[in-house]
Amino acid sequence: MIGIFDSGSGGMSVAREIIRILPREKYFFFADNAHCPYGEKSREYIEDRARFITRFLLEKGADIIVVACNTATAAAIATLRKEFAPLKFIGMEPAVKPAALGTKSGVIGVLATAGTLKGSKYLNTKSTVDSGIKIVEHVGRGFVELVENGILEGPEAEKTIKESLEPLLEAGADTIVLGCTHYPFLIAPIRKIAGPGVSIIDPAPSVARHLKNVMEQEGLLKNDGAPGKDPDIELYSSGDRESLERIFNLIYL
Ligand code: DGL
Repeated sequence: MIGIFDSGSGGMSVAREIIRILPREKYFFFADNAHCPYGEKSREYIEDRARFITRFLLEKGADIIVVACNTATAAAIATLRKEFAPLKFIGMEPAVKPAALGTKSGVIGVLATAGTLKGSKYLNTKSTVDSGIKIVEHVGRGFVELVENGILEGPEAEKTIKESLEPLLEAGADTIVLGCTHYPFLIAPIRKIAGPGVSIIDPAPSVARHLKNVMEQEGLLKNDGAPGKDPDIELYSSGDRESLERIFNLIYL
């Protein structure tokens, strides 16, 4: 079974891509809604949550764990790999490299949480990008709350998104990296505000391909999920399930 977790329901944007390419596996998705958002929380706090959730997923029978949260990947994946070795953890990658290859204006924008932007993983990846490319960043302030509350479009969503996206567009960004797994659920208003000349990059499909490769190499693919058109996934929320169910229904109903 593939265990997937996030601070909330956003990680379903990653689960969706994984299930697309591995439709016959069994899944367990843990949304830590009671402790969401993680964005401004301390590293120790997120590490504690990540340990607790990992134990929970192991009890449920997980063979591999996807940290479908950029903030938790930044804060806790190194600790999880050390403490739960040899268990495999797949984390989120800040997609600045593909963005750097695609930009024509030479400016890429990154939207993420404060925790992700100050994490060493992001800073290291950023330091490998050609120095001729300018990277501008902004915290997607209020984005996670919009998704958790099911406000995925309309004037309120657009007003909140504009405040964080406009500084990136004004700096000349023609490519925007979504560095938080909640943000793909806001793709419609993000596209509307950014306009047709701006590419939006979601790292979820490449994380899903990476997971598939690792599972193939490790002999972990089981193909034992229930056959049928719906994914074989159990949903669990540490808090209010409503947001998780809303997102699930949006994807699969
Ligand atoms: N979905 C998460 C991420 O990718 C966490 C957002 C949050 O809880 O602040 O960063």
